[in-house]
Amino acid sequence: MPDLFGGFLNESIVNRARIKNIVEINVHNLRDYSQNRHHRVDDYSYGGGAGMVLMIEPIANCIRALKKQRKYEEIIYLTPDGNLLDQQLANELSLKSNLILLCGHYKGIDERVRKHFITLEISIGNYVLTGGELAAAVLTDAMVRLLPGVINDVTSALSDSFQDGLLAPPVYTRPEDFEGMKVPKVLMSGHAEKIEKWRFEKAVERTKQKRPDLLSSNNHK
Ligand code: 6GU
Repeated sequence: MPDLFGGFLNESIVNRARIKNIVEINVHNLRDYSQNRHHRVDDYSYGGGAGMVLMIEPIANCIRALKKQRKYEEIIYLTPDGNLLDQQLANELSLKSNLILLCGHYKGIDERVRKHFITLEISIGNYVLTGGELAAAVLTDAMVRLLPGVINDVTSALSDSFQDGLLAPPVYTRPEDFEGMKVPKVLMSGHAEKIEKWRFEKAVERTKQKRPDLLSSNNHK
């Protein structure tokens, strides 16, 4: 459902990255790859049961047509039973040159697509969406913002929550005193080392409080 990507692709930092030619994003409608007279892309599930299934033919036609134009490093299917997306996976994928993201809808896609065309399956969380499009937008956003030149401040993406296995520390801006609510003094000290130490301590404190699971050793990367 290509229209679902409109606002996301055309009104965002992602769009700025496209205009700057840092990333190229093309949306393809599976209906354009259907040989069916009515451009159908889904059909009833063999064996019965509720819900339509995306057919293999339009998907195979689309993937093959794209592969003729470029080499792809991954062909990703967005699905609630895929690998959970995290910062590390977003980092790894943002380093690849060409990706295909396949969005399912309805009850899913013909299993033969997953077996023979898909190289990676990704979920964005333990809940079910009506289709893969929002998940593809989430994945795309997470990858694109890491590309050099997308976020002006080079250190900004690296100091994100999760990049060092910690949540980001609190931030403040003017005014220094809002109705008696004050900015921590250390941030006004101009003492870079002290500020860095404070930020690290706050990041650890915040992570302990809100996401102790991130501190357990097997999550440290
Ligand atoms: Cl990738 N797709 C759908 N349909 N639901 C989801 C998801 C993906 N990730 C979490 N829920």
